[in-house]
Amino acid sequence: MDTKLLGLSLLELSYIAASVTFILGLKMLSSPDKARKGNLIAGYGMGLAIAATILFKEEFSPDKWLNYTLIFAGLLIGTVIGVRMALKVKMTAMPQMVSFFNGMGGACAGVISLVEFDHLRHGGEVSMGMLIVILLGLIIGSVSFSGSMIAFGKLEGKIADKALPAGQIINILLLIAIFGLGGFLAISGNLSMPLLFGLLALSLIYGVLFVMPIGGADMPVVISLLNSFTGMAAAFGGFLYGNQAMLTGGILVGSAGTILTVLMCTAMNRSLTNVIIGSFGGGSSASAKTGEQGTIKEISVTDAAILLAYANKVSVVPGYGLAVAQAQHTVHNLEKLLEEKGVELTYAIHPVAGRMPGHMNVLLAEADVPYPKLLEMEDANEDMASTDVVLVIGANDVVNPAAENDPSSPIYGMPVVKVWNAKNIIVLKRSMGKGYAGIENELFFHPKNRMLFGDAKDSLEKLISELKNL
Ligand code: TAP
Repeated sequence: MDTKLLGLSLLELSYIAASVTFILGLKMLSSPDKARKGNLIAGYGMGLAIAATILFKEEFSPDKWLNYTLIFAGLLIGTVIGVRMALKVKMTAMPQMVSFFNGMGGACAGVISLVEFDHLRHGGEVSMGMLIVILLGLIIGSVSFSGSMIAFGKLEGKIADKALPAGQIINILLLIAIFGLGGFLAISGNLSMPLLFGLLALSLIYGVLFVMPIGGADMPVVISLLNSFTGMAAAFGGFLYGNQAMLTGGILVGSAGTILTVLMCTAMNRSLTNVIIGSFGGGSSASAKTGEQGTIKEISVTDAAILLAYANKVSVVPGYGLAVAQAQHTVHNLEKLLEEKGVELTYAIHPVAGRMPGHMNVLLAEADVPYPKLLEMEDANEDMASTDVVLVIGANDVVNPAAENDPSSPIYGMPVVKVWNAKNIIVLKRSMGKGYAGIENELFFHPKNRMLFGDAKDSLEKLISELKNL
């Protein structure tokens, strides 16, 4: 076999192997104890596909060395920035990082389309099918890029929610313009660069205007949606180059992002349209019941420790505040101490607790909390009536009874952890501050509830030392 043919065969094989690692990796991501390994396996597969492309793709001449220099410079810069960001990122800032990386993926897909369009202008074979793939890659990639950058800015607190007057109409007109211009280019076979840049500009503007008005609490859903866009755009790139690894990777990201978007909407009992145009969260939408809830009862650390020590069954409901306080290791220590005292402790995990999918699972796995102790919301709710004490740690919206009994509340209909069915509730938070949805929580005024104010980690440490003295 000649060496060129051998190289191409190895290239194809490496793409198939990479595709298999993506599928295996994704499968392993569905279980927290295997997720880290799954991520690594898919990463190795991606590394293999990149290395094989550099080694065996023979189309680099006549500028072979210039191309190699550019590729390795890009790899080096990307690796340094990526590794630094991943090492430095705080758990609570993970959604912004995902959004940033996702935006980079969208930008890559857009740039691939620009380069391929230019290639067609310089004598490449033009077909309508090829043009459609190039144009769709450009549109979806650039919407994903600009939308993700706005989402990143919002989550960093650098960009505020802003809706243009008649924003929805402007967005619809923009979409008509984008598909009108794209359709014209594809059907006419016109290879005008200015028109292509016009299409690029319209798509970038659409991405900005699409994400700008969406409420802060809905950002994770939007990021997941944009993630699926990037996957689709990458799959178009794979289609263009006949590259199976890129095609499989793109399809997997596209479909996983879509499934995740749907799952999150279901967990909040809201439609995707409501998420996109509902402007939920950010504090403007106070509940109709604001100010009429009654009195708040506080509990001392000693009383809370006694209540916990003499309970048979304790349920911990973790929320965003647990991640902010970085109290995952401390809560695990409390769990071990209570178990030594014969208390049965489980965690009630709400599917959208925190700020990203699986946030609480990842956080607690980091502290080595045994996975069987994490109960899904439905199972935890079934156990509530036989639970002696519920410890709500930095959670707010996901335990708000208004979701069940206040039709005027913006979270009405969202499934929640029904902590009020337990015998006692203790809420650990710093103040009467609101959650991400920006609404009051009548749970704090419930006759069974007592507040333990303070940073979650501090309060848990105090509880632990009190329990040790009992
Ligand atoms: P939130 O409703 O956001 O409430 C978090 C609470 O933690 C706040 O009220 C805050 O009160 C408290 N807190 C903050 N820092 C703290 C600290 N250091 N120590 C103790 N408490 C602290 O959280 P949640 O119940 O987890 O709900 C998640 C929200 O995000 C929901 O509205 C959900 O719909 C939305 N969301 C999530 C996702 C995903 S995928 N997770 C997706 C879309 C939307 P203080 O300031 O008084 O301490």
